[in-house]
Amino acid sequence: MIAPKKISITINGQVCEGEQGQTILEIARANNIYIPTLCYMKGLTPWGGCRLCIVEVEGNPKVVPSCATPAVDGTKITTHNDRLVALRKATLELLFSERNHICPICPYNKGDCGLQHQGLAHGITGIRYPYLYPALPVDVTGRYFGIDHNRCILCTRCIRTCDEIEGVHTLDVSSRGIKNQIVVDMNTTFGASDTCTQCGACVVSCPTGALFDKAAAFRGQWTSSVQILTTCTECPVGCGLKVHTKENRIVNVWGDPDSPVNTGHLCVKGRYQTWAEPRDRITTPLIKGQPATWDEALAAIKKAAKVKKAEKALLVAPRVTNETAAAIAGVAGKFGQTAMFVGANEAALCAEPSFTGDALRKLQDADAIIVLGAQPTRDNGVVASRIRVAVRKRGAKLLIFHARKSELDRHADVAANVVSLESKLWNKVKAALAGAQRPAIVYGPNAMTPIGVTVMERLIAIFEANTGGSEPLLIGLPVSANALAMSRAGIPAVEEVGPWLDAKPLKFLHIVVGDALDGGAGLLEEKYVPALLERIDCLVVQASYKSALTDKASVVLPATIWCEKTGTVTNLEGRELPLRPVVTVAGEARDDKAILESVYA
Ligand code: SF4
Ligand code: SF4
Ligand code: SF4
Ligand code: FES
Repeated sequence: MIAPKKISITINGQVCEGEQGQTILEIARANNIYIPTLCYMKGLTPWGGCRLCIVEVEGNPKVVPSCATPAVDGTKITTHNDRLVALRKATLELLFSERNHICPICPYNKGDCGLQHQGLAHGITGIRYPYLYPALPVDVTGRYFGIDHNRCILCTRCIRTCDEIEGVHTLDVSSRGIKNQIVVDMNTTFGASDTCTQCGACVVSCPTGALFDKAAAFRGQWTSSVQILTTCTECPVGCGLKVHTKENRIVNVWGDPDSPVNTGHLCVKGRYQTWAEPRDRITTPLIKGQPATWDEALAAIKKAAKVKKAEKALLVAPRVTNETAAAIAGVAGKFGQTAMFVGANEAALCAEPSFTGDALRKLQDADAIIVLGAQPTRDNGVVASRIRVAVRKRGAKLLIFHARKSELDRHADVAANVVSLESKLWNKVKAALAGAQRPAIVYGPNAMTPIGVTVMERLIAIFEANTGGSEPLLIGLPVSANALAMSRAGIPAVEEVGPWLDAKPLKFLHIVVGDALDGGAGLLEEKYVPALLERIDCLVVQASYKSALTDKASVVLPATIWCEKTGTVTNLEGRELPLRPVVTVAGEARDDKAILESVYA
């Protein structure tokens, strides 16, 4: 690759180095020169709409938007003088007059609003233009966020974020002139949208209180909150989180922009589902449903565990930390059988754990992507967004082979049921893959079925024959959060818990559910499991949230949740990612590893 040519411009008398292709704003920022902005957002295509970033270029009588103007070698730029400040003030006054910016009743009041900040910074105390007082709607039908059009300045950051980062283009602008308004799909609501993934990236991008998070509203400014970096443990992508807290409670969760995994983007699970949903937390040990002390609970378990080793089993959710996984491997010898429970066809994916270095970045760069037996939209939202962006923005081909339809299908060149592949379809596949230079295969649990393996082999053969021998990038995509690393630690995976429980007559079963959001209730949906659990003398459930499973337990041990934990998880790229405590531990909950060691070590 040819290195971009170096250029030099002078900004306010200061010589600034940059590269050809950079905008005036980018070079100014790299040289610590401040230019006010509103519609600009790093990482998005510049729009040049708000005109707050205007500058003068020597020799040009007009002002230009620095965010959308490429810097030209040798030019002289002025960012601040009386004319520029007067123009910016007029722009801001027009923005304030156009809609209903009633700051005292806005969740972004006093510090979080870009428009308010610029108004104060420019000394605006009154408006010279008449207020229009439009009566615009407020849409609060979305589960996690809403939009108040009265506070919208039409900067289009949300539209560009949705289009360029989440890759769905749910949002756009309707109408003309003063009637311009942000619309969802073809003018529906967030609640009725069939394209919005609820990732919330548009809300983070909004510089005003127009788009707002419901759970975060009026919990205090995010600008003055404590921000702690940790890792999402809801799937094996392992996105970096920036968690905002105030007075020991979470006020919002954003993506960590510096995370090499997700570069600031999250899916609905990491962004909202872990904290913005009501859940019944278990904060004290329970014996037969009644609160007990830790000493009482541990004594009861130790007494019940005095049965033959063959009559005892340990079953674990595939989402514990690496440190807990090591502790489980350490105590496994005390049980007749130990396993982690995974989804259908996932055990084979875990049997030979394979990690793909830098998978997320490479995926977005791929020019042909095959999704085989995986459901990234449902299970790994950030992977789905990378795929959509590669297809919609970079023209990558997308081929999907799965037994179930998904939202990604509408972006695909070929979407086929993996069990009914016909020969004419294979010709279509060959045509779509012809000439691909950077192909990628994203394979999930259902690629491990006999038909899945056959399709995978055939695809690899097509790549070898059709793509000039380019080796496809192979990305294994389990559903379970830390299953690959747990498998590597020596914990075997089991898909059908019923037969596993029935293999030997059990008297004692300890289930580590940890902070699974369903409290382990999903286990009861498996065939035979509810009846088999009834036959066990002592069922110990280690969980964070109440569920139908904890209701069945003889002893319940309260476990910490993602934002209280210390430790590491390993993502699908093989990165060891840190978990940091964000808030103090609720009640008497304890770390999964500490609990296991206090009972069995
Ligand atoms: S939540 Fe995500 S998908 Fe929905 S409109 Fe916002 S950016 Fe687009
Ligand atoms: S909703 Fe927010 S981000 Fe979107 S155009 Fe309006 S002010 Fe900008
Ligand atoms: S993609 Fe996975 S790791 Fe990332 S936010 Fe969503 S659930 Fe969490
Ligand atoms: S920030 Fe440049 S025009 Fe809006």
